Amino acid sequence: MKIAVLGYGTIGSGVVEVLNINAGKIARRSGETVEVKYVLDLREFPGDPVQDILVHDYSVIAEDDEIGVIVETMGGTKPAYDFVKTALLSGKSVCTSNKELVAAHGAELIQIAKEKNVNFFFEASVGGGIPIIRPINQCITADEIQEINGILNGTTNFILTKMAEDGADFGDVLKEAQELGYAEKDPTADVEGYDACRKIAILTSLAYGKQVDYEDIYTEGITKITAADFKYAEKMNAAIKIFGTSKKIGDHVYAMVAPQVVGHDHPLYSVNGVFNAISVTGNMLGDVMFYGAGAGKLPTASAVVADVVAAVKHQGEHVPITWSSDKLDITPLDEMENRFFVRVGGEEREKAAGVFGEVQMIDAGIAGECGFVTPVMKEKEFSEKVKALDTLITRIRVQ
Ligand code: HSE
Repeated sequence: MKIAVLGYGTIGSGVVEVLNINAGKIARRSGETVEVKYVLDLREFPGDPVQDILVHDYSVIAEDDEIGVIVETMGGTKPAYDFVKTALLSGKSVCTSNKELVAAHGAELIQIAKEKNVNFFFEASVGGGIPIIRPINQCITADEIQEINGILNGTTNFILTKMAEDGADFGDVLKEAQELGYAEKDPTADVEGYDACRKIAILTSLAYGKQVDYEDIYTEGITKITAADFKYAEKMNAAIKIFGTSKKIGDHVYAMVAPQVVGHDHPLYSVNGVFNAISVTGNMLGDVMFYGAGAGKLPTASAVVADVVAAVKHQGEHVPITWSSDKLDITPLDEMENRFFVRVGGEEREKAAGVFGEVQMIDAGIAGECGFVTPVMKEKEFSEKVKALDTLITRIRVQ
């Protein structure tokens, strides 16, 4: 099998490396040898063996009938979407790590793959090296999925873990994460939750078989989390994590990305550093959890190459993925029920119970303020009631 790799960045070069290091095993599992015939990139790579197979013009790959599988590791939707669509329409299977592409165009690309009797695989688009797409699509299909909770972004989990360990503020830890190469120079997509939002949109689309538009998902990042918040979390024997969440209650599907106070008995409490984990609750299965490296060159490339093996094994056979372009309506955030951890000025301590009913007070020993946890209530009820407090410092949802 001759394949092409689009984009020779971190993941694309990892794909070439995995194919080289594990060539024998991959050939045995695929049923034939897998050879990278082309690498597409705008740059040159003098001294790198791929320089000999490097092309700058996609049409060379698109028009080569010998290429049966294309790996797309460029990221973004332009020009990835056009390249992938062209490949599928010309009867080539595609394996991608690109969550922006999958979240925006997954349903359409799966449909084209079906019509052309090829495959569009995207295991690496969520959770990096963690198997989660195939498990949801194939292993948990006997269940109604009731809930997905995921730590879906390694950068923010690293930052929150460091803030908890060092008692440091967000800005200082972000700077350190950038110096260590864990956070991008422009960290917006990670710290504002946009990356996790695309990932929970993909998982929710797969769980319910319909298109979830990521724009419909309420998304809150971690930029307002402070060292003081962690002092309260410590008192609660809890962590603060950013979760991608979706849940089905009756006919309603709720989804959000937001920081959460997570108790020590929660399965995701001890997922630290750059690791990711996804907990899925099925109505028959109960809880199942997937944990591992959610980013990084070789773990992510490993998932992409596993898709290549599947694409080679299933030549001439479309592996169905239930994700139609019918829109799945996400219930408005106002209707979602949550508990909230709230910090207000000390003078409003007594008022808290009057406003919210039975609250659990938390004393973190910070002068001039107090913290408490509300009972479960609808988001709209919380938004209304909190207006009665004049000295609100912050609020974080509680798992
Ligand atoms: N920026 C992402 C993360 C990379 O930190 O998880 C993997 O999608």
